[in-house]
Parts: sequence; C-alpha cells; structure tokens
Amino acid sequence: MKSFAVLTSGGDSPGMNAALRAVVRSCVYNNVRIYGIDHGYKGIFDGQIHEMNRYSVADIIHKGGTVLYTDRCKEMTSEGGAKRAAELLSGYGIDGLIAIGGDGTYKGALALSEYGINVMTIPGTIDNDIPCTDYCIGYDTALNTAVEAIGKIRDTSSSHNRINVVQVMGRNCGNLALYSGLAGGAEAIVVPEIPFSAHAVAEKIMLGKEKGKMHSIVVFAEGCGNAVDFCHKLEEITQIETRVTILGYTQRGGSPTAFDRILASRMGAYAVELLLAGEKNKAICLKDNHYMGMDLKQALSMEYSFDESVYQTAIELSI
Ligand code: F6P
Repeated sequence: MKSFAVLTSGGDSPGMNAALRAVVRSCVYNNVRIYGIDHGYKGIFDGQIHEMNRYSVADIIHKGGTVLYTDRCKEMTSEGGAKRAAELLSGYGIDGLIAIGGDGTYKGALALSEYGINVMTIPGTIDNDIPCTDYCIGYDTALNTAVEAIGKIRDTSSSHNRINVVQVMGRNCGNLALYSGLAGGAEAIVVPEIPFSAHAVAEKIMLGKEKGKMHSIVVFAEGCGNAVDFCHKLEEITQIETRVTILGYTQRGGSPTAFDRILASRMGAYAVELLLAGEKNKAICLKDNHYMGMDLKQALSMEYSFDESVYQTAIELSI
C-alpha cells in the first residue's frame, strides 16, 4: 500500500480545505494511506503527522482557513533544515508529499525534492502570484470579498462626496488590486508593477471632478507602501476629504466561492492522480483551461508577468 502526506503552508487561503478534502478522498478512493501534517512544514519537525480518513475531511468543503493549520516555517530555510525534514518524512515511509500553498511553500517543496522526497505542489494563495498557473486557490474568493467591500465603500463615498482609498492584499503582486479595481469600477488603481504617484492619482481625480464625478474610489495594492500616507497626500493635494480602508485579513477568510472549490477539488484529485501515475516533482497548474503538472524547478524559475493590457482597460473605463 502506498503512503502519501499532505500539508498546507504559508498564508491560508479560502479553498485550502476543499483541496485537502480532494487529496484525502482521492487517496481513500485509490486505497492509498494518507497522512496529514499539521502546521505546514513545521509539523514535520515537530512530529505532528497523523493518518487521515474520509471522515477527517467531512464537512469542510465550504469552510475558509485550513483544518491542518498553517505556518511560515523558518526551519525549512535554515542550514540543513530541508535535509532534516526529508529524513524525518522518509522515516514515515512516505512515497509522495502534496504541499498546498504559495511561493514559500513551493521553495520548501523543491528543497525537499532535492533530498529525494517526491513532491506535488498545489497553488493556494490569495495573491495569485504563482507564475505557472492562471489561478491559485483562494484568489477568486478574496477577489469577491474585495469587490463586495469596494461596493459598500462606494455607497458611503458617494454620500459624502469623498475620495476613498481601499487597500487590498497581494504582497508584491498587483493582481488582487487590478481585478478588484476593475470589477469595482475604481477611478484609480495603484499597483507595484506600474509607476505611480499621489500627484498623478490626484490629477486624475481632479479631472474627473471637472467632468462631474462627485466621489472617487482608489484601489491601492499593499505592495505600494503605506495606504494611510497615500490617503493623506491625496487629501492634501486635492483638498477633498479622503478616507482609507485596509481590507486586510478579511480577504483571507470566508467560505470559498464555487470557482475556488472546483479548482481545489480538481487540483487535489489531479495531484494524487499524478503521484499514482509515477510522476515526480510537479507543480499542479491550470493553464489556458487545462490542468497540468509542470516540472517544479521549471515552475519556480518562471517570472510572474503583470497583464498591463488589463490595467490599460481599467484606466480607459475609469475616465
Ligand atoms: O500571501 C498571502 C498574504 O495574505 C499576502 O497578501 C500578505 O502580504 C501576507 O500574506 C500577510 O502575511 P501574514 O499572514 O504573515 O501576516
């Protein structure tokens, strides 16, 4: 009987539970022993490894967070950390590890693969910044959370004729800001991939005011710095009352959308399928509507590219 293990690591994202469920249920269906590792890679060092069964993942498909808990494990990046983790995993007789998470999780998985552990990675991050896949689990839910919040802020912004700056997450990636700004009809979108200044945004808002715009929404990516300072600068330049809302961790939680649940279910099942087929060290991706497993090293060497044409469209629609 084969044995696989699964963990969630890095920042949690809605849909991680659905991916866990898919991994565990696919293993049970295929008569594979499946271990859950608590608290991401940290659980390997702490021996928090336990066998899972069909009931371990009952009633979680709709839940945000991760029932396996998560962590950003420093030991994995420390000298000899990955080697030690690989040795510990081998002690459990594990034939394959499925790691669900973002960029840091992928790097940890690659390091383990260099010490003989066969790994499959599944992209789980609200940042949608894993270059090899069009979508990461959790992004769609976070995007919808942000769009809903922008809609609510728009109501009060309009009533008070204010500028409202809304800061969204995304680390150094502007995807969440770009697409929530586009879907939320923002007057300006500030992302790290495109040079920006408070003066340029203020000028755009003043031009809008001349054309009759009574209020403005500015979506501000966290990778662009301090949204509070930016808000103060805008107010100073435009002399329009300006408020800031930091959406923060509201974007990380909540029940996953149908899109994220389906993505998670298919990626989880596919990861198990690839392990059973004898594939080695693959990053599970959804590319141009096709699920595929890309060589993990290759996936990690890819550069993330920001779609400037979508940004341009958002600008054109916000005149
Ligand atoms: O990577 C997901 C993310 O939510 C980023 O958008 C954000 O910058 C970061 O994690 C926050 O990390 P932490 O959970 O460690 O505060």
